[in-house]
Amino acid sequence: MKVNVVLGLQWGDEGKGKIVDVLTPAYSVIARFQGGPNAGHSLEFDNQKFVLHTIPSGIFHENVTNIIGSGVVIDPVIFMEEITQLQQLGVPVYNRLLIAKRAHLILPTHRIIDAASEAAKGKTKIGSTLKGIGPTYMDKTGRNGLRVGDIFSPAFMERYEALKQKHFTFLKQYDYPYNIEEYEAQWLKSIDELRKFTLIESEYVINKYLAESQKVLAEGAQGSLLDIDFGSYPYVTSSNTVCAGTCIGLGIAPNKIGEVFGIFKAYCTRVGSGPFPTELNDETGERIRKTGHEFGATTGRPRRTGWLDLVALKYAVLISGVTRLIMTKADVLDAFDTIKVAVAYKVDGKETQQLPFEINEPIEPVYKEFKGWKRTISNIRNEDALPFELMNFVRFIEKETGVPIKIISVGPDREQTIVR
Ligand code: GDP
Ligand code: IMO
Ligand code: MG
Repeated sequence: MKVNVVLGLQWGDEGKGKIVDVLTPAYSVIARFQGGPNAGHSLEFDNQKFVLHTIPSGIFHENVTNIIGSGVVIDPVIFMEEITQLQQLGVPVYNRLLIAKRAHLILPTHRIIDAASEAAKGKTKIGSTLKGIGPTYMDKTGRNGLRVGDIFSPAFMERYEALKQKHFTFLKQYDYPYNIEEYEAQWLKSIDELRKFTLIESEYVINKYLAESQKVLAEGAQGSLLDIDFGSYPYVTSSNTVCAGTCIGLGIAPNKIGEVFGIFKAYCTRVGSGPFPTELNDETGERIRKTGHEFGATTGRPRRTGWLDLVALKYAVLISGVTRLIMTKADVLDAFDTIKVAVAYKVDGKETQQLPFEINEPIEPVYKEFKGWKRTISNIRNEDALPFELMNFVRFIEKETGVPIKIISVGPDREQTIVR
């Protein structure tokens, strides 16, 4: 048995939470493999909306094991807040959730370093979610980090204090006032709570599940264009969001990867700084933001909006070997007369199909225009009833990317999903 993977192909918020929830009934294991509480994955069903940050999006389903993989970074405070909310809803989280011992802990001081470093960057700030993600992954690769499995070590508090002191010394370079007392108290309390969970060697557990022919779905966070290696560096997150991140973040071999589901919106959004070639800083952009409720699920910030970018989409498909596409939020474009798609870039007067290395290079998108469908599609449940104009748009994307669009999502609810 192989692991199927769900990835965001843009700058995040493509609808991964909704789609993982929709796909979960066909799986027995859902595993997050990277990122941390910078993620905000929304799910809607039975007229209720939920936002998950650290916990995999299969948590609402019975008889499904959810795993927080070793590539994830965990803030115990945010994690316990999520747990409390889920318990209030009657979700038996302790039975459904396993946590990799190798996952790294976000310390209160990691959050401060994130904030101090962003403040010092001024105009060149990344637009981080300020959850301490970058500093935690820096300590991981710098071989200083604390892992979830360490919470049972008798030396845990000593190691925590030592790392905290290191961070205090590091913070001296910044003129940044801070106070961690309150958060630290909550953090230490949450560490005690974390000890009640089942901690696992996820690499052994997941490979055992595969050997037993159990179906495993890996859930990505962020999006391909925020990947630390292949995104618009330095305006990226600090983990590998592309398919290869699944192997590293769960401990499975590349030949254990099965289908790669790539999710994209029918347009583009981005939160935080960095290049966005098809961005619309006009009324059309504002209309997409309003209609699509494009405000961050984690930070509440307004998302930047723009047209679909096929150059970037093809790049994401290439890097991750996407085998099936999933398109979300076409319903947001229901009332538009025309819809544009970037099919190439003009850089230095020359047309290209490649993302330039130099991110500050001015990029002029070359657009193809499509006729809008001018109909409400959110109540449609079967492909044959979808407007001809929308199917034209779908077939064009399939032809350009060479990958079939297998699911069309027409609204935030579980039910608003058309499987082709
Ligand atoms: P994620 O981070 O990829 O899980 O995406 P987010 O949850 O951050 O953002 C996606 C937003 O779009 C959420 O508010 C979803 O409820 C909503 N959504 C998902 N799919 C659709 C869709 O097909 N149509 C509409 N209108 N909203 C959708
Ligand atoms: P989901 O999983 C959208 C963005 C931030 C910032 C950059 C770095 O919901 O799609 P970080 O906090 O990681 O240091 O921020 O990455 N970012 C996201 N944007 N969706 C996300 O997650 C994001 N997680 C991080 O806005 O630009
Ligand atoms: Mg999100």
